[in-house]
Amino acid sequence: MIRWLIRAARFLRENLKRRGPRWIDIGAVDEFPFNAARVVVRRGVPIAVFHDETGISVIGDICPHMGASLSEGTLHPDGSVECPAHRMRFHLKTGACSIGPVYSARVFRFRRQNGRLEAFL
Ligand code: FES
Repeated sequence: MIRWLIRAARFLRENLKRRGPRWIDIGAVDEFPFNAARVVVRRGVPIAVFHDETGISVIGDICPHMGASLSEGTLHPDGSVECPAHRMRFHLKTGACSIGPVYSARVFRFRRQNGRLEAFL
């Protein structure tokens, strides 16, 4: 698992460096149901799009702790998601982890363009 994560991180770092970050379409705004998460993969990166009372949030789907899928976690009213594996919580807007800065989740900037969502990655 760790080796796979290291290889994936290396691949992503080299891939993103080569092409540089830019705004990428991730779907129509109404494709993301309320109080749910949906995963899209762009540029090889699994991205979880959450839509709850706090609005839309776009974060990396891979939990920074041990790689579980955050989109399968539990949404909380305080705007955080609880990882299904070890129950750490990650704030959807900042990526901050409930146990401290060691495991911050990746948060993507996003914007709405003509009824569609674009993430910067
Ligand atoms: S894998 Fe997410 S908290 Fe451990």
